[in-house]
Amino acid sequence: MLLAPVYRTRLASGVCLRIFTVVPASRKYSTPTDIPIPNKSKVWNSAEEAVKDIKSGDVLMCGGFGLAGIPDTLLGALAKRKDVTNLTGVSNNAGAGDSGLGKLLNVDKLSKIIASYPGGNKKFEAMYLNGEISLELVPQGTLAERIRAHAAGIPAFYTPTGASTAVEEGSIPLLYNPGGFSKGVAIPGIKKETKDFNGRRYVMETAIPGDVAFIRAWKVDEVGNCVFRYASQNFSTAMAKNAKVTIVEAEKIVPVGSISPNAIHLPGIYVNRIVPATVEKKIEIITLATTETGGESTLSPEKAAAQAQRRYIASRAAKEIKDGFYVNLGIGMPTLVPEYLEPGVRVWLQSENGILGMGPYPTEKELDADLINAGKETVTLLPGASIFDSSESFAMIRGGHIDVAILGAMEVSQAGDIANFMIPGKMLKGIGGAMDLVSNPDQTKVIAVMEHTAKGGKPKILQQCALPLTGARTVSTIITELAVFDVDRVAGGLELIDLAKGVTVEEVRAKTGCDFKVRSQLGTW
Ligand SMILES: *[C@@H]1O[C@H](CO)[C@@H](O)[C@H](O)[C@H]1NC(C)=O
Ligand SMILES: *[C@@H]1O[C@H](CO)[C@@H](O)[C@H](O)[C@H]1NC(C)=O
Ligand SMILES: *[C@@H]1O[C@H](CO)[C@@H](O)[C@H](O)[C@H]1NC(C)=O
Repeated sequence: MLLAPVYRTRLASGVCLRIFTVVPASRKYSTPTDIPIPNKSKVWNSAEEAVKDIKSGDVLMCGGFGLAGIPDTLLGALAKRKDVTNLTGVSNNAGAGDSGLGKLLNVDKLSKIIASYPGGNKKFEAMYLNGEISLELVPQGTLAERIRAHAAGIPAFYTPTGASTAVEEGSIPLLYNPGGFSKGVAIPGIKKETKDFNGRRYVMETAIPGDVAFIRAWKVDEVGNCVFRYASQNFSTAMAKNAKVTIVEAEKIVPVGSISPNAIHLPGIYVNRIVPATVEKKIEIITLATTETGGESTLSPEKAAAQAQRRYIASRAAKEIKDGFYVNLGIGMPTLVPEYLEPGVRVWLQSENGILGMGPYPTEKELDADLINAGKETVTLLPGASIFDSSESFAMIRGGHIDVAILGAMEVSQAGDIANFMIPGKMLKGIGGAMDLVSNPDQTKVIAVMEHTAKGGKPKILQQCALPLTGARTVSTIITELAVFDVDRVAGGLELIDLAKGVTVEEVRAKTGCDFKVRSQLGTW
């Protein structure tokens, strides 16, 4: 032990007083300025070199969302490794064409994909339905949390997402027999344990450990501190924290110390290797403000009529939204809702890839590859907007901080069950964020917007859904081109509250697959 002077002070009497503190003798540095900062550069010369120790059987975390900003430089280098096969790819999507996990799929490097929305890749969808590749289909928020959990040393957790659905039952097969759906299941889905907390049902989900992570970042310093632009954090931060080897391809590599500590999204502790990104950033879906595209005047008469009907439904849904609400809108019809908000109603739109305060489509001048919504369309930010990664985004969603979620539906039941993600054997686009968005219906009101019947007049509002559920007892309001129903999610019944102009209760009865009460003072719109 030695005594180190901390400061001295001169007392009024003129006596000099020293104040001492105890310092262990083993401590080497007396002041912080002596601490040598490990600044060995993590930059590698090429992606080829940085991926050369990846092994067959490895679990590869692949950052990004959709096609924009995925680590295509690293994926391209790995695709060239002749000796590597049997990889498991973990990513929100399965890529498409020669981008994203598509790059590895095209050269038979993958035997399994863990994803929330793989169906955008037609080749993958066909391979899965033919029994040629395994799929673990995971709700988007659960995927982000399973990745985050392992990185944080948590082996499993309970979530409301997917309770009482095919996710809990494990009824989405991991692998079909060769020949596909009609030949039966080779490996069934994973059945989940459940538990009730405070009267609600939760499923246990296990953490996903990763071997390697490929991440694309905007700016990285030589010791691995990363900054992402706008919506480009999504899955990247969680994945980067969850691999034995994390490799970042960066648009800009800058010297140590040149990024403000306040600006760092991903601390360098999580990054092992850095390579320059050489593949250019793409925009998957360019959407411009309608004044720039000439609007919808170019549609065929049938398409224009269908679009007008969708707009009519959206205009009614807009009445459910109050000033200051935080709102999440599903892909498709729900995205039309903001155009019909009542005068004076302003809302914060949340996009589950990591934006709060999303603005309208950009003008050509405002186009930015890093500003896209969950549908991968280009968008803008409003003053007051904020950005965050996917695990934060879904914490916000499951935690019930969103006031209203508006979703499209293939079927809704009289108890508020909703089905909108899959037709067994025929279609499997994916779950995306839908199961998370309906997972807290007491705090986040779920509104289903849909055409009243399917093609051929088949009812879509039913006693019980026939399709696999996205959520059980979650929808509070159903809005169609004919009617609006309130759902009693506890007792399980519908009440007709509003009729569209010129529609009768008899017509609604004829086109609805279950009984319903009729409010004495029916509204109209
Ligand atoms: C690391 O620090 C040393 C001494 O401070 C300096 O000369 C060197 O350039 C630094 N290297 C990097 C990669 O920043
Ligand atoms: C593929 O990799 C997994 C580990 O991810 C391993 O369990 C399995 O045995 C491997 N299969 C083959 C055919 O090598
Ligand atoms: C996801 O992140 C990548 C980079 O990490 C970015 O380029 C891409 O635009 C993001 N996608 C979405 C939908 O937020």
